[in-house]
Amino acid sequence: MNTAINRRILLIDDTPTIHDDFRKILTPGPSASTDLDDLESALFGSAPKAPATVYELECAYGGQEGLGKLLDAAAQARPYALAFVDMRMPDGWDGAQTIEELWKHDPLLQVVVCTAYSDYSWDELLDRLNGHDRLLILKKPFDNIEVQQMANTLTTKWEMTRRAQLQMSQLEALVAQRTQAFQQASEALQHEMDERMLLESQLVQSEKLASLGQLAAGVAHEINNPVGFISSNLSTLGTYFGQMQQMLEAYRQAEAALAPGEPRLGLEQLRASLELDFLLQDIPQLIKESKDGIGRVSQIVKDLKDFSRVDSTQHWQWADLQQGMDSTLNIVAAEIKYKADVVKQYVPLPEVECLPSQINQVVMNLIVNAAQAMGSERGTITLSNGVQGDTVWLQVADNGAGIAPQHLAKIFDPFFTTKPVGQGTGLGLSLSYGIIKKHRGEITVHSEVGKGTTFRVELPIRQTAPATS
Ligand SMILES: Nc1ncnc2c1ncn2[C@@H]1O[C@H](COP(=O)(O)OP(=O)(O)O)[C@@H](O)[C@H]1O
Ligand SMILES: [Mg+2]
Repeated sequence: MNTAINRRILLIDDTPTIHDDFRKILTPGPSASTDLDDLESALFGSAPKAPATVYELECAYGGQEGLGKLLDAAAQARPYALAFVDMRMPDGWDGAQTIEELWKHDPLLQVVVCTAYSDYSWDELLDRLNGHDRLLILKKPFDNIEVQQMANTLTTKWEMTRRAQLQMSQLEALVAQRTQAFQQASEALQHEMDERMLLESQLVQSEKLASLGQLAAGVAHEINNPVGFISSNLSTLGTYFGQMQQMLEAYRQAEAALAPGEPRLGLEQLRASLELDFLLQDIPQLIKESKDGIGRVSQIVKDLKDFSRVDSTQHWQWADLQQGMDSTLNIVAAEIKYKADVVKQYVPLPEVECLPSQINQVVMNLIVNAAQAMGSERGTITLSNGVQGDTVWLQVADNGAGIAPQHLAKIFDPFFTTKPVGQGTGLGLSLSYGIIKKHRGEITVHSEVGKGTTFRVELPIRQTAPATS
């Protein structure tokens, strides 16, 4: 900090001789200083003389000229510390108006009003200028030492005020700096907390998935056995029934050879009452339907196993994504059955190196979201895929409600949901995003409100250096 005190003084007075007086008092040259020495000796005896303070005095003959100098000085960053202003100046502004104008541009300026008489009472003047703390009154005729003392005290006061202000603004800057640091720290903390919450929810989600997988595997194992023997028994039953049909046919022909009478009539009545012809027709039909049914059960079991891949969760492996999409579709069939038709536009895909159960999870999230985007009218969900260079792509498109532009940037944020509590957790897409990133892939969205939404997933076929899961 510059420790020199600003001793710049502005004098505004319409009387040229006053200018000369002030110059002598405040900027003593060799001759003037002799006068001053005499004066001082007269006042204080022969006490040793203190070195005279050096002031920089500039003079103006009227208010407007004074203001011009003040503005110039401000523009050069060399402000005045103090102004002596004459009260009575017949041309232009009087002293009161001049001071008002000066303070408009430089409220720090210390001011001394010099006058022999005034058009205002001092109280009036102080009230009008509202400057009790930076205004002094110097009555003419004035003593030189009075002027010097005022100049000294008021320029020092100006300097102290300035330094106090500087310290205050440094303090404010420091407070602002600390506040900002604090804000940054609290934002970082919030970020960390969000991340932790996301990690925890991911953990919960993956535990859920793992237990679903285990459950599926357990159920699949339990069901597989009975499904196996039911379906094999049904086949055997079909064969046996075919043989019985042959036997019955033989009986029927033998029956025709019987002589009319008791036994033949009895057989005919029994055949009619049992509706044997209908049974012969219906039993193979029943066996066929049962076989279809058990076939579907075994498909569901297979899909469950395929979806959960519990046998191999969290292992990078080569998988057929199309098969995964179909299994996933079967798993969520109940969710979409009443809301949308599903259209598949598949092309053959190469196997992809991935974590299949996680990719299935992504596809499931996208399909469920698509179904949930349908309104009261039944919609269409289109699943498509393709190959492009060394990536494959999957698309889930719907003609549902679409996503509002202001939501588009947030849908991959954890916990962002537009669905009512209980229906949406806001985690589906953020988890999916994490999974696809882990695969070094991309997930993008295109949506138009009222028309529908398309999510596209692109995955590299080969993971050059698989990330740890
Ligand atoms: N296919 C879609 N159509 C319209 N909006 C969607 C679709 N998919 C996602 N969204 C929007 O993205 C939000 C976040 O989705 P998601 O992360 O799966 O959470 P949730 O489904 O639990 O709300 C949804 O609440 C919804 O507003
Ligand atoms: Mg969802």
